[in-house]
Amino acid sequence: MARARDLGAGVLGTTSPNPPVGAVVLAADGTPAGEGATAPPGGPHAEVVALAQAGERARGGTAVVTLEPCAHTGRTGPCADALLAAGIARVVVAVPEPTELAVGGAERLRAAGVDVELGVEQAEAEDGALAAWLTGVRHRRPHVVWKVAGTLDGRVAAADGSSRWVTGAEARAAVHRLRATCDAVLVGSGTALADDPQLTVRGPDGTDADRQPLRVVLDRRGRLPATARVLDAAAPTLVSAAPGPRELLAQLWERDVRRVLLEGGPTLAAAFLRDGLVDEAVVHLAPKLLGSGAPLVGDLGISAIVDALTLTVVDVTRLGGDVAIRLRPNRHTGAGRTAHGRS
Ligand SMILES: NC(=O)c1ccc[n+]([C@@H]2O[C@H](COP(=O)([O-])OP(=O)(O)OC[C@H]3O[C@@H](n4cnc5c(N)ncnc54)[C@H](OP(=O)(O)O)[C@@H]3O)[C@@H](O)[C@H]2O)c1
Repeated sequence: MARARDLGAGVLGTTSPNPPVGAVVLAADGTPAGEGATAPPGGPHAEVVALAQAGERARGGTAVVTLEPCAHTGRTGPCADALLAAGIARVVVAVPEPTELAVGGAERLRAAGVDVELGVEQAEAEDGALAAWLTGVRHRRPHVVWKVAGTLDGRVAAADGSSRWVTGAEARAAVHRLRATCDAVLVGSGTALADDPQLTVRGPDGTDADRQPLRVVLDRRGRLPATARVLDAAAPTLVSAAPGPRELLAQLWERDVRRVLLEGGPTLAAAFLRDGLVDEAVVHLAPKLLGSGAPLVGDLGISAIVDALTLTVVDVTRLGGDVAIRLRPNRHTGAGRTAHGRS
């Protein structure tokens, strides 16, 4: 199952609106026979890729999958039928299918005599590559990852507006890898005007990646100049005048965006946090002090410590001289406030 999760994580950012699923097929004697992950939309699902690789060795074997095999015909046929046709005897699943549309795979397999186990290492799979897709199923909106790079005293730019480079080369390379796992990369008009970022995915040598997320600028007053780098031909761009975060996410959902990287700045990040629309945070901290300059996040409307928006640290890693912290916002703990966190 750990291998299946890794396979799913390897295609994160390439499968939307479909879930990034990983699958491993073991032969009857328990040896690995095939593995696969969801192909881009219209292509085969993970089970079908793994079965094709296993061929005849799948007969009497086991399929290990991060999400319950589908029972419906979409752009491809039902995976449950493909498993039956291949003669699979046992199916081990992490996450039961949560949508009405595709549910029924386990039932169909069991009815045909296949041994099906659901819920194996389910929490690990739900927190991994499937997290964004599950946010979409539960809340009918894209999953939002807020990324920010700041100094130890929480400044994202110096008093003179300069912000290049707060963090070092390793942290910046990690941002490009993070962008590659997302369907869209978003900034507010303030950041687009101050920094003129290109918002593309580039490799260590500076070349553009083959697949580029949609670049999005929230610019309600039409201040973005036609010469902005984000409008170049390197990737598609949406300049939105949506009145707020929720309306913007609805626009992105319609474009099949399921995982958004919110790259700032502090004003837009605060608007998303106030509306409870941040699902994950990736904070890069540089061991530097500025003492003044733009803060990590703008006004959250909080004046007492008991009302602080709290987050849980998921993990901490070192990136060269900097530190990366992955966090998940908790439900807001402040007295009488319930607007934050998951609903
Ligand atoms: N180190 C980092 O990681 C990092 C990342 C990003 C930015 N920065 C720094 O942050 C600074 C820019 O910060 P900023 O706060 O001005 O930029 P911002 O958050 O990118 O943009 C703010 C603008 O977004 C628009 N907006 C759209 N919807 C909004 C809503 N619901 N609520 C509030 N605003 C909304 C508003 O302009 P309209 O009314 O025109 O729509 C607002 O003025 C720069 O100095 C930049 O270098 C640093």
